[in-house]
Amino acid sequence: MAAVRDTLGRPIRDLRISVTDRCNFRCPYCMPKDAFGPDHPFLAAGRLMTHGELVRIVGVFVGLGVEKVRLTGGEPLLRSDLPAIIRAIKRDLGVAEVALTTNGWLLGKQAPALRAAGLDRLNVSVDSLDEATAGRMNGLGFSVSRVLAGIDAAAAEGFPIKVNCVVQRGVNEGEIISLCGYFREKGHTLRFIEFMDVGNTNHWSQSQVVPAREIVARVSAAWSLEPVDPAYRGEVAARYRYADGRGEIGIVSSVTEPFCKDCDRARLSADGKLFTCLFASAGRDVLGLVRSGADDAAISSFVAGIWRARSDRYSDERNSVLAAGMERKKVEMSYIGG
Ligand code: GTP
Ligand code: 5AD
Ligand code: SF4
Ligand code: SF4
Repeated sequence: MAAVRDTLGRPIRDLRISVTDRCNFRCPYCMPKDAFGPDHPFLAAGRLMTHGELVRIVGVFVGLGVEKVRLTGGEPLLRSDLPAIIRAIKRDLGVAEVALTTNGWLLGKQAPALRAAGLDRLNVSVDSLDEATAGRMNGLGFSVSRVLAGIDAAAAEGFPIKVNCVVQRGVNEGEIISLCGYFREKGHTLRFIEFMDVGNTNHWSQSQVVPAREIVARVSAAWSLEPVDPAYRGEVAARYRYADGRGEIGIVSSVTEPFCKDCDRARLSADGKLFTCLFASAGRDVLGLVRSGADDAAISSFVAGIWRARSDRYSDERNSVLAAGMERKKVEMSYIGG
């Protein structure tokens, strides 16, 4: 089938797959402890896409134009068959780019197996280098030094690495410069992410967002920066290079400078539902169709039909939605994958 486009002319290039809705961290901006306690109804094992189902669904998306697959969660490294999944997507389906977004806690141990499986690159979350702040931001007091060691192990395996830092006013805004200094030396691209109103439980407020332009101004006061063109159309992070040639940073400014215009990302939840926006309320049950015995052609036309009807641009519309008090229930990010 020819590449499909949505109602705004956007193709489907990037597939983000949550391989589990569980996580070993409880970052308050994503899975706050009060909402994700011991009684939280995580998906039962039988509802997760199996290796075979997942790879088959990815194959259908590849037929519709997907060139890049990102594995996320929850925490994807909690899934023990992850290397086998990566190997199949990379080697059997021939997907050009397979990437992983992780909190890094289990990375030190798993980096060699991920490399051997053919994973192309990694994005790892580090919100602070200060142990107390980092422990608060992962909700459980876990030590950031283990995450940093995991990043070193992954770099030693040869992975290109980007580091994600969610910036929250009054929480870790004071860490911006030390993070830049550390990751400049390490040679990894650091991306600052504006705190987003994903899900319904993270008590988001505009007052906690540190705007992209302020982040750039703060970094510029320490090192001079120059804007860089996007690596590809629709890249999520705006890029800046250090004028002294020591690498670059990125800013993901979904709140103050939305990037819906070129959004070519489809999202698949761990139970195989297709979401056409990070801020969607509901997904469409691709796995259900697979389990009902549908053939690939039927699955492909189901997905293509959903994509052709897509008109999502939540971040572009956020301000008017919030101003009108029209907020609806959104899916949780740990379930859908960031
Ligand atoms: P690269 O391929 O390395 O550019 O990765 P990425 O930035 O697309 O992926 P990553 O998983 O590292 O996400 C970084 C941040 O961007 C996370 O906070 C995501 O939630 C956010 N993000 C990614 N895609 C979208 C999107 O389509 N919309 C919004 N609003 N945020 C997104
Ligand atoms: N706002 C911005 N980024 C978030 N992430 C998780 N929750 C939020 C939020 N509310 C980030 C994680 C990870 C990526 C997948 O999404 O820190 O880097
Ligand atoms: Fe887990 Fe990542 Fe969410 Fe933190 S941001 S709770 S590490 S899924
Ligand atoms: Fe895409 Fe929705 Fe994010 Fe806009 S808000 S960039 S449409 S996922």
